[in-house]
Amino acid sequence: MKIGFRKILAVVAAGMLLTGQSMAAESNECGKIRPGEIWKDVKGDTINAHGGCVIFADGKYYWYGEHRAAVRSLPQEGVTVYSSPDLTTWTYEGLALRATEEKGHDIERGCIIERPKVIYNAKTGKYVMWFHLELKGQGYGPARCAVAVSDTPAGPFTFVRSGRVNAGIMPDNLSKQEASGCADEKMEWWTPEWRAEIERGMFTMRDLNGGQMSRDMTLFVDDDAKGYHIYSSEDNLTLHIAELTDDYLGHTGKYVRIFPGGHNEAPALMKRGGRYWMITSGCTGWEPNEARLMTADRIMGEWKQLPNPCRGENADKTFLGQSNYIMKLPGEDRFIAMFDKWDPKSLMNSRYLWLPVDFDAEGVPYVSWKNEWSPRK
Ligand code: DGJ
Repeated sequence: MKIGFRKILAVVAAGMLLTGQSMAAESNECGKIRPGEIWKDVKGDTINAHGGCVIFADGKYYWYGEHRAAVRSLPQEGVTVYSSPDLTTWTYEGLALRATEEKGHDIERGCIIERPKVIYNAKTGKYVMWFHLELKGQGYGPARCAVAVSDTPAGPFTFVRSGRVNAGIMPDNLSKQEASGCADEKMEWWTPEWRAEIERGMFTMRDLNGGQMSRDMTLFVDDDAKGYHIYSSEDNLTLHIAELTDDYLGHTGKYVRIFPGGHNEAPALMKRGGRYWMITSGCTGWEPNEARLMTADRIMGEWKQLPNPCRGENADKTFLGQSNYIMKLPGEDRFIAMFDKWDPKSLMNSRYLWLPVDFDAEGVPYVSWKNEWSPRK
């Protein structure tokens, strides 16, 4: 039988297409997680869910993240959500929260939405999303957090409000007396005198009336169902931990400052063995830096800093990523640390670095680089 040249070409092309598809899907199928590779959803589209979190609800995993455009100047669509039975095969569920076309709205298309986190409130039966919000056209100046709510994990979430945190309220671990007489906030940065004033609450006082700044953030629900909002405040110089109201839709006014002047971003929190553990990054924009590990007996502190929890290739640069979230696997004593490997030229193409958390003999968590691993038991 004679086969024409064109037919051969067509067969080869179809073969290449098929191979291309299966190669693309390989990165997160077969029950394996391959940190840093391109991860596709079940339709073969690249997963677009950055800086987010994963929860387990109604027998499935839900992954929420920042929608990011191919190029920086294009607007974000909102917060995406994917579902999975096994943490490796993901189905796109759509936009959990959609940026609106309404002019002047807090989440008007063109705003910046970062680090969305979702928690379930057992009392109200609602899913509550908090995220870092920057208003359209205002760069990173507003430094707000925002909250949205939904009856179902996949949403759509309804926007509730945005703003700064705990206006007019002093932190539990800083009194007006201690902060009184703080120097002029316009003093030269990074001098020892300036550092001392930052520690003393110079920026806490600057923002007291309008509310505290809130940029990189995470949420944490404790064993007693109390919710907490942990965020980079005071121009990213100081972390704050603020208690949420019983419905998780607001702040109670109880909050603490930790590591004043420590310049921590990207907080991710877990609890194990009665202790709280937090991974953060330093502040170098989209560029990777060395991760930090902190621990405390009580969530409101005292917190103390420990050495870098990352081990293996590029451990001094957080595997070229930045911390984002630590997920506890439901009903198990296992945790997954989630990092983003940012591509600032095309944030959409940023990669996901998910790695299992290990513990040393003293129970101190660490994360080792792995090219491939399985989240199954
Ligand atoms: C680092 C933060 O962790 C990111 O979420 C983002 O805000 C970038 N900075 C922006 O430069």
